[in-house]
Order: sequence, then C-alpha cells, then structure tokens
Amino acid sequence: MKGLVLAGGYGTRLRPLTHTGPKQLIPIANKPNIQYCIEDLRDAGITDIGIVLGNVMPEKVQEFLGDGSKFGVRFTYIVQGEPKGIAHAINCAKEFMGNEEFVVYLGDNLLKNGIKAIPKKMKEEKADCVISLMPVKEPQRYGIAELSPDGTKVLRTVEKPKEPKSNLAVIGVYAFNSSFFKVYPKLRPSWRNEMEITDAISLLIESGHKVVPHHVEGWWKDTGKPEDILEANHLILDGIAEENEGRVEDGASVVGRVKIGKGTVIYGRSVVRGPAIVGENCKIGPGAYIGPYTAIGDGCQVSKAEIDDSIVMEDSTVDVERKLVRSMIGKSSKILSANGLIPKGERLVVGENTSVYL
Ligand code: TTP
Repeated sequence: MKGLVLAGGYGTRLRPLTHTGPKQLIPIANKPNIQYCIEDLRDAGITDIGIVLGNVMPEKVQEFLGDGSKFGVRFTYIVQGEPKGIAHAINCAKEFMGNEEFVVYLGDNLLKNGIKAIPKKMKEEKADCVISLMPVKEPQRYGIAELSPDGTKVLRTVEKPKEPKSNLAVIGVYAFNSSFFKVYPKLRPSWRNEMEITDAISLLIESGHKVVPHHVEGWWKDTGKPEDILEANHLILDGIAEENEGRVEDGASVVGRVKIGKGTVIYGRSVVRGPAIVGENCKIGPGAYIGPYTAIGDGCQVSKAEIDDSIVMEDSTVDVERKLVRSMIGKSSKILSANGLIPKGERLVVGENTSVYL
C-alpha cells in the first residue's frame, strides 16, 4: 500500500502566514503539520509516499521533507500547481499509484490516534474505498456522508449540504484502490470550480464500488484557520511529555509538563508553566513568563514578556513588558517595546492580511 499527502491549496484563510510558505509547514507544538501526517503513515507501515505540491512555495516543502530518509520513508514529489480540488490532486498521482491501493492524507489534518485502522479496514472489508467520519456540530460547513440504515455502507457524500442528512463529516484521510482513477474522467467541476472529493466518492458508489465508513476515535483537527491551529497546538501539548535538554538557571521555575530543547536557557525570575514546549537554542527571560499551551520555536528570545496559549515561530524576539495571549507570531518576527521612542506611540510594520489587537 502507498501513501499520498496533499501539500497544495492556497491557504487563504491562514494569510499572512501562508504568504511565505504553505500551511502544511506551519508548526504545531514545534512540528510542521505535514510531519504528523508522515509519521502516522509510517506508523501504519506505509513508507512509499507521494507528496502533492501546490504553488505556494512548494520548494519549502521539498527542502523540509527531503527524500524521506530522515523520517524512515521514501518520497516521490508530484506537482499539482493550481489547486483544482482534492480529487484533482489525487488524480495527479495516477502514475505513481499504478495498481496499488493507497491512503490519502490531507497535509493540514491531524488525528490523535493515527491512521492504522484505515488500511486495516480496507483489507478486511475488501473495500474499494474507506472514508473517515467524525460527528460535527455544523454539518453545513463540511463534506457530509449519508450511511445505509445498518451503518455499514456509505450511500452518498455531499459537499456542504444546505439540508444535511447526517452530522458525519468526511475528514481528510481516505483509502482508495485504482478504481478512483477509472471513475475520475467522469467527474465534473463543482459550483466552486473544484474537482470535489465528495463527488468522486459518490461516483464510486454510483458505479457499484464498495465504499465503507470508518468512525474516527479521539480528536481530529483540520488546521485551516488560525484558531484551529491554536486549538491543534493545545491538543498536541495536552499529550506532551516532560523533557529538559536545556538549562534552568537559579531563580527560574519550570512547572508541569514542559519540553525544553538543547541549548536553551531559562534565565532567573522566569516561569515556564506547562503543558508547553520551548525549542532549541532559545533565551527565555530574565523575568519572562511562558504559560500553558504555548509553543516557542527554535532560536527565539523572550525577554520580560508574558506569553500564554500562543505559538511563537522560529527565530523570533519578544522583548516587551506586555502579555500576549492566543497569538501566532510568524518566523523571524520582532515584538519590541515602544518605550523611549520618539515620536511616542505604537509602532507597527504589519504585512498584508495581518490582525493586531492593541
Ligand atoms: P482546503 O483547506 O480545502 O483548501 P486551501 O488550502 O486552498 O485553503 P483556503 O480555503 O484557506 O484557501 O484544502 C484541504 C487540503 O487539501 C489542504 O491540505 C490543501 C490540500 N489541497 C491540495 O493539495 N490541492 C487542492 O487542489 C486543494 C483544493 C486542496
């Protein structure tokens, strides 16, 4: 069985973070979302993996992932370019898949319990397709599956239905065999001009293929919006183990489950309260507070500030006597004090589509 991870899409809802790279590389508890997907595939025994690249700096995905050896897998890169829909992205991998069965993982989805159950179900049920389902509160916002009365078969899947027939959302992990590529030519673009995965699944069903539901246990998160990323960060940090490879100076305290990377120093009068992660080669304090559900990337410097429930990405500096909450700070950013500046006032250099709450 092969794997396919989708790393395309525009990621418009995550701008400005996606002005400088694809959303699948945004760190969640200091690890890019796509890495969790790859580790899940590998842990399910899938090591021959295609990576579908879009047109938001795809070279950054290749630079991070390499040939796969550092993750114990092998990558083949497949270019989709313009995002023409999830089904289109999968069809780009037709040659790579040949006649093999495969698992597709959207590179911005996270599952607590991995994906081992999906290839297993595909084999046990001798299915042509397995879709993963999760009950949701607002089914109008998702691709929704309608099941047979005994719950064993999928009857239909509909993208964002106005009158949903169930609350079971089709989430971003699927298994297919080569029948996907046979029905794909019959697919037509939707009202939003995308080749929809829900339409492709419905086509499989209509042409007599066996499509089986898998009910996902544990949490699932789609990290399409900033608040989803903060929530995913929360969920991952909830399960983090305590580990300290750095140095905690006298007078500083580290409380609860905190992971501290190599070369990091927590200076005096600072408090780090877990669950939290501080990457490698960071300088925290003196007098800083890092609160629960915060991830500080490698090479960051946090002086005096208090930071709670936030993500601070690599090589950033926060040097201001203020409290930041539920914030996402992009790579190599600087949040500095305006004290002593003339003319007096807040001073901002803010990119397109940025949100600032003062
Ligand atoms: P979406 O979140 O539906 O699309 P998007 O990335 O364009 O986001 P936005 O709406 O904010 O602009 O995509 C779901 C996943 O599938 C995501 O990991 C990107 C990937 N994808 C592709 O690889 N190719 C595509 O053509 C599309 C539509 C999505």
